Amino acid sequence: MADKNAKLTVGGGEHGFDVLDGTIGPSVVNISSLYKDTGMFTYDPGFTSTASCESKITYIDGDEGTLLYRGYPIEQLADHGDFLESCYLLLYGDLPTKPEKEDFVSRVTYHTMIHEQMSRFFSGFRRDAHPMAVMCGVVGALSAFYHDSTDISDPRQRMIASLRMIAKMPTIAAMAYKYHVGQPFVYPRNDLNYAANFLHMCFAVPCEEYKVNPVLARAMDRIFILHADHEQNASTSTVRLAGSSGANPFACIAAGIACLWGPAHGGANEAALNMLSEIGSVDRIPEFVARAKDKNDPFRLMGFGHRVYKNYDPRAKIMQKTCHEVLGELGIKDDPLLDIAMELEKIALNDPYFIEKKLYPNIDFYSGITLRALGFPTNMFTVLFALARTVGWIAQWKEMVEDPSQRIGRPRQLYTGAPKRDYVPIEQRR
Ligand code: CMC
Repeated sequence: MADKNAKLTVGGGEHGFDVLDGTIGPSVVNISSLYKDTGMFTYDPGFTSTASCESKITYIDGDEGTLLYRGYPIEQLADHGDFLESCYLLLYGDLPTKPEKEDFVSRVTYHTMIHEQMSRFFSGFRRDAHPMAVMCGVVGALSAFYHDSTDISDPRQRMIASLRMIAKMPTIAAMAYKYHVGQPFVYPRNDLNYAANFLHMCFAVPCEEYKVNPVLARAMDRIFILHADHEQNASTSTVRLAGSSGANPFACIAAGIACLWGPAHGGANEAALNMLSEIGSVDRIPEFVARAKDKNDPFRLMGFGHRVYKNYDPRAKIMQKTCHEVLGELGIKDDPLLDIAMELEKIALNDPYFIEKKLYPNIDFYSGITLRALGFPTNMFTVLFALARTVGWIAQWKEMVEDPSQRIGRPRQLYTGAPKRDYVPIEQRR
């Protein structure tokens, strides 16, 4: 890292700060001594100009529409690799050799079952509970079952916890689905690959054989790759902040799941499909586009816009292709929601409002249609996102815990509340 100098003139004095350069992307001004030097904080709600950490895992160029995992473009990983290879890459920093891959796959596969007693947990939830509510609870509860991998100072325990979460998340997600639809849980099958096993656990029933369609399993796997990491997004930052206090990894990932649930983040895939259903027909698109542009209407086009991408989200392009492949394989020739999505995309991309604000489709725009065609109900969409993002959360958590300069995350504030005042006894209050 080269150091140049940035100067800030404030309170009558001039202060110098190091400028740090990354491998690619914007440089940062290191203001960590600002408070000590000037008695002032920086103010950046929503972190629009703040790098919260140093990381070697994922890089996004929002203007170019580029996403790299450990330097590899997402398009190449999605076309040529598989999800567990991406997991290895995110966790260890390089693509695995053949023996490394085999070893990793077998280590993950070894952990696919969950403690039998955990299955009783599910019956404590209402059947109509949102599966994300169930995920928050059950994943948080992993720390009650796997005490032997909660010591974060032990590298072996950290790795076992990481493998356990990557391996068990599909099992827990499938159980949340089965519980919701009132079907018996299906145990993992270690002879199937990661995505095929997940589809099997979701859609097999004990009374008949279920053969996993390899084209659909490949599509599922690709969807997992696309969602695996996305640098310092809201849920990942939540995981890092939770982990900075020394909380155990299962608790940190449960915190990430809770954050992901919001409609501005992982909940957008569900919201996007609901929006397409609400639009209902191509002729109603202009009405909804007008609403999205109306400052007095809180409505937004779900699946459009992104804090970082000011160009087409590269994941959205792959997702669109995957969507067509899945519909083709299933012989779905006319999907009215796909027609609406494609027309809406065309109209929005030519509308000055969306052009000026650089609002492009994001990954969630086409993922809902694809996941629905695969057989998932809308309330499972964010669960699938959580399943895939788990490896990203873990890689980022491990990177943070293994950084010797790591400290508890503790933002400051601009206080605008009441100044100091004296307590008033209740009889004297008015
Ligand atoms: N429809 C209409 N207008 C929009 C939209 C949209 N989807 N997104 C942003 N805008 C407008 C917004 O009103 C604002 O206008 P103005 O400058 O006149 O006030 C401007 O664009 C900038 O928006 P912002 O809310 O300041 O941008 P942000 O970076 O804080 O928010 C976002 C990013 C993703 C939350 C937002 O674009 C959004 O709410 N999109 C819909 C939800 C969605 O699809 N989320 C999935 C994100 S991708 C998956 C993930 O990362 O989880």
